[in-house]
Amino acid sequence: MHKDIKEVLFSEEVIAAKVQEMGAQITADYAGQKLIVVSLLKGAVYFTADLTKKIDLPVRLDFMIASSYGDESISAGNINVIKDIDEKIAGKHVLLIDDIIDTGLTLDKISKLLETHHPLSVKTAVLLDKGARRVNNMNADYVGFEIPDEFVVGYGLDFAGDYRNLPFIGILKPAVFAKK
Ligand code: PRP
Repeated sequence: MHKDIKEVLFSEEVIAAKVQEMGAQITADYAGQKLIVVSLLKGAVYFTADLTKKIDLPVRLDFMIASSYGDESISAGNINVIKDIDEKIAGKHVLLIDDIIDTGLTLDKISKLLETHHPLSVKTAVLLDKGARRVNNMNADYVGFEIPDEFVVGYGLDFAGDYRNLPFIGILKPAVFAKK
């Protein structure tokens, strides 16, 4: 156990099993079709890498970087696109992947942006869903785990840029974020 972690929520093995299950479901749902995956950096990097390997379909991979204007304005939904997609998605099936849906503002905004390119469909996949924090009616189409309203890190999720490379998902000790 890492010294800054209070509790491991999902071990590496539990995450791997869930990602395998999600990949099988996505493979079945899109059988016979091609998929463009759009991954939201940075948080989704590990989930995207693992999930796409479990999708047994022709997959093209693209990335976006979005950022909120600042902590105060997150609830206002002001999300900037720092890096847009490179792929042409018109007439294609798109799967938008993120590590977590929290307020729902990021997935809502980015999926609407993608729709403006006239894809055949846009669906969303997240590993974690912190439903208690939602401010809109956005829900992901594929969800790995529902989680409580706790500060979670690891497997791509950070606190002030740290802890992304922990192989598990854990709850950060309150003392750690109290002193930053
Ligand atoms: C995190 C996470 C999601 C978003 C979810 O990204 O990766 O993209 O917040 O929150 P929401 O549902 O309230 O919009 P962050 O902006 O921290 O960037 P990161 O991916 O680089 O960690």
